[in-house]
Amino acid sequence: MQKLAIQGGNRLNGEVRISGAKNAALPIMCAGLLTAGDLHLDNMPDLHDVATMRKLLMQLGVAIEINGGQMVLSAANIDNLEAPYEMVKTMRAAILVLGPLVARFGEARVSLPGGCAIGSRPVDLHIKGLQAMGAEIHIEHGYIHAQVPHGVGAKRLKGARIFFDLVSVTGTENLMMAAALADGVTVLENAAREPEVVDLAHCLIAMGAKIEGAGSDTISIIGVEKLHGASHRIMPDRIESGTFLVAATAAGGDITLTDARADILENVLEKLQEAGASIQVAGSTINLKMNKRPMAVNVRTSPYPAFPTDMQAQFMAMNTIAEGSAMVVETIFENRFMHVQELRRLGAQIDVEGNTAVIKGCAQLEGATIMATDLRASACLVIAGLVAQGETIVDRIYHLDRGYEHIEAKLSGLGAQIRRLK
Ligand code: EPZ
Repeated sequence: MQKLAIQGGNRLNGEVRISGAKNAALPIMCAGLLTAGDLHLDNMPDLHDVATMRKLLMQLGVAIEINGGQMVLSAANIDNLEAPYEMVKTMRAAILVLGPLVARFGEARVSLPGGCAIGSRPVDLHIKGLQAMGAEIHIEHGYIHAQVPHGVGAKRLKGARIFFDLVSVTGTENLMMAAALADGVTVLENAAREPEVVDLAHCLIAMGAKIEGAGSDTISIIGVEKLHGASHRIMPDRIESGTFLVAATAAGGDITLTDARADILENVLEKLQEAGASIQVAGSTINLKMNKRPMAVNVRTSPYPAFPTDMQAQFMAMNTIAEGSAMVVETIFENRFMHVQELRRLGAQIDVEGNTAVIKGCAQLEGATIMATDLRASACLVIAGLVAQGETIVDRIYHLDRGYEHIEAKLSGLGAQIRRLK
């Protein structure tokens, strides 16, 4: 198990480049399955989850070349329609091959993703949507087996009107990809409005898809017979951006994010200003200055454009050393407070009642050995280590590597005392 050793107390100063968004790169890689043409991607992040998705797609027969941040996918010779449990259990986003495979080949066998640390995370909405589009789906031996029945015409999904009982990001993405090749019009109601959904839609449109309304809660897709290759640049990662900005607000300093986008972080930026940070936006740079103890801020997670659940743990870390008390309410996942126990080991004062945590800011955390449990919780623990007195060791940081590109190098570049222990 790799660990990070962090000496707390340094302010963060300097520039950091924001990488391509993990949660845009993963669905967009799966969009490559929808065409025999080449999909050229740029600004791809170097992440463990991207490597896992690449392995899965290559197992299906996709040819993938990587050159730095560039990736070319060619799904001209798909010879396997099964996504095995071994791949899916380590990365839930593997479910995103289901829609494209059924849409283009009329069949797919995808392992049901197991639960994960933050919740049971079912995929019933993905399945319901595909059934509404005419797929016959059987769950057997832990696998989703989807088939488009042999109708008169080619085995094609049919357009349908689909209402999401819950806002689902990958549910929206899976069905938007499936609808792109369906026969007829599909309307997704109560769709996710996340910027990553919009980035996927932009890529699909470049491939010849007919999509309107991405970014709103109603997305209309007119299916086409074929999609062609295209080029697409992955959008910047708003959660990586938010993570660095919270770290600088907690530790103090003056940092500038480059290759970033402020327009997709409005809620987070407002909360950081409420905490006392001063923020200047100029084109693709975001500058944050903080030279006092942060004020505690209340957060309540909700689908975009409200406060993102993927930023909840990071704000909790800041609140542990802030002035005053704050409430953190997690409304999306049923178990996304795994970081609370670990923060308490550093001396944080946190009470949890159901999906609500009350944090009483204390003047100082004490370094200790703590354990990462999921991706964003590990980012929270790194932030806590940056502000704790003495040394903090964060264990099981493979969680961190899934979603943050070279985080210790980027933080060291900002003046943090952080190193990886083999
Ligand atoms: C995406 O997960 C992100 N992952 C998550 O980021 C993010 O936390 C989440 O959206 C919410 O914003 C990717 O984009 C790869 P959901 P997803 O479907 O799509 C329930 C990270 O840190 N639900 O929007 O799996 C579900 O249980 C990761 O990068 C159903 O009940 O989340 C949850 O309570 C963590 N049935 C809620 O909806 C379904 O069929 C939202 O889940 C689907 C979802």
